[in-house]
Amino acid sequence: MKPLLYNDEGIMKVTVIGGGGYVGLVTAVGLARLGHQVVGVDVNRQIVDVLSSGKSPIYEEGLEELLGKVLVESSLRFTTNIADGVSAAQVVLVAVGTPPHADGSPDLTALRSVTVDLARTIAPETIVAIKSTIPVGAVSEMQEAFKALGALDIEIVSNPEFLSEGSAVNDFFHPNRIVVGTTSERARRVMRELYAPFLKDESAFPLASLDISRNVPLVETSAESAQVIKYAANAFLATRVSFINEIAGICEQLGADVADVVEGLTMDPRIGHGYLSPGIGFGGPCLEKDLQALSYSAAIHGYQANFLDATLRRNDDQINHVVNRAIALCGGSVSGKRIGVLGLAFKAGTNDVRTSLSVRIIDRLYNLGASIAMHDPVAMEEAQVLLPSIDPAMTPYAVAENADLIMLLTDWPEYLVLDWSRISKMLRSKVVFDGRNALNPAICVAAGLRYYRVGKATS
Ligand SMILES: NC(=O)c1ccc[n+]([C@@H]2O[C@H](COP(=O)([O-])OP(=O)(O)OC[C@H]3O[C@@H](n4cnc5c(N)ncnc54)[C@H](O)[C@@H]3O)[C@@H](O)[C@H]2O)c1
Repeated sequence: MKPLLYNDEGIMKVTVIGGGGYVGLVTAVGLARLGHQVVGVDVNRQIVDVLSSGKSPIYEEGLEELLGKVLVESSLRFTTNIADGVSAAQVVLVAVGTPPHADGSPDLTALRSVTVDLARTIAPETIVAIKSTIPVGAVSEMQEAFKALGALDIEIVSNPEFLSEGSAVNDFFHPNRIVVGTTSERARRVMRELYAPFLKDESAFPLASLDISRNVPLVETSAESAQVIKYAANAFLATRVSFINEIAGICEQLGADVADVVEGLTMDPRIGHGYLSPGIGFGGPCLEKDLQALSYSAAIHGYQANFLDATLRRNDDQINHVVNRAIALCGGSVSGKRIGVLGLAFKAGTNDVRTSLSVRIIDRLYNLGASIAMHDPVAMEEAQVLLPSIDPAMTPYAVAENADLIMLLTDWPEYLVLDWSRISKMLRSKVVFDGRNALNPAICVAAGLRYYRVGKATS
């Protein structure tokens, strides 16, 4: 089948290491769809087998369909063998995980192991672009390691990823900027070729039938600045979430309604709308970890990032706050109470439960003696691994059976259109706590429920 790129010369051989992960898989599938010839390398044999059969272990809208398409077009294949994946590549993208250590520093074990594997297999003059979020200093460490291991003329680029889980495929095809951090002109040229369909207008790359953003801004900078752009972006988003939760807490005490406050606040174009939804806090694999990593990096270079640390503390406070509200709504103790929880994924649109605040809240309530039934439309299997003692419910209605409280903790669209009268009839105490301020209060009240949410003290 014909590749999509208008100009065959624009097709590049690309390898994505960590190609079975969230970032790696979306990147591999997306680049293949743009017409590049892509190999996804992953150490996880099971994931490689599942992906090769056309199934995606990651739930993202449109991902499995695109995966099937590019496998049929033969523009993407998967392997566990790094030598097989890398030997012919012009660009190697690295998207392995960088989870946090207990002290907040990023764990670079996977990146270091990839460096050793790459040094043995990579052809001279290959460009290695790091999509993983890594601290300043990690690129030069990798460069030194390559030299020490005899892999010469390898340029390393910081090319941070900004996609959001839940809208990852759309984010890939509609990036709002592309950041390339390197001082090598050769590496910059190759990266411009890799992302050419996004950087030029449609006359240069028609890419029939593909809805992608054109003339996307390209930020070419040093590796250090590219890395700080990524960390600063996540720190800023996290700060907005902690800020609005702080305002929500104040509203609850002052008798104001944070929903009205948000409406009035976000009409100011200087403020805008993003990440200003009061709720249970920021969860997921990136915001907390990246904030911790930036604060840690700052501290080891002699800068105390008090503001970032306060943002992190405020997020923990929000979990305490939600747990305390559940206790209050259960009459002063959750011990022996039955609580139904709707939503386990850290946000709607994904099956990712890594650092899900819903999971943390359930764990806290369980340890306080509550008996809990939980439901999620796509993340049940993943959540059960983390919460083996919690009763899984087959349907959202089943969590309401004889419950003293029902809590909405992930705002899946299907939860917003549940039959709340039916739920109300199943509950022992007719109380709902909306941890995402997403339900329609009038519908809940009409169903006979006492409805509570974040940022408003009363029903
Ligand atoms: N998930 C997000 O929303 C997101 C967004 C932007 C940036 N990031 C950053 O991207 C990076 C990857 O995050 P993720 O969520 O995709 O992680 P992930 O855990 O989903 O994926 C990492 C993949 O790398 C594979 N892997 C580990 N070691 C390997 C090795 N030596 N060789 C080959 N494969 C190996 C794993 O098997 C896994 O499939 C992190 O640095 C993260 O901070 C993530």
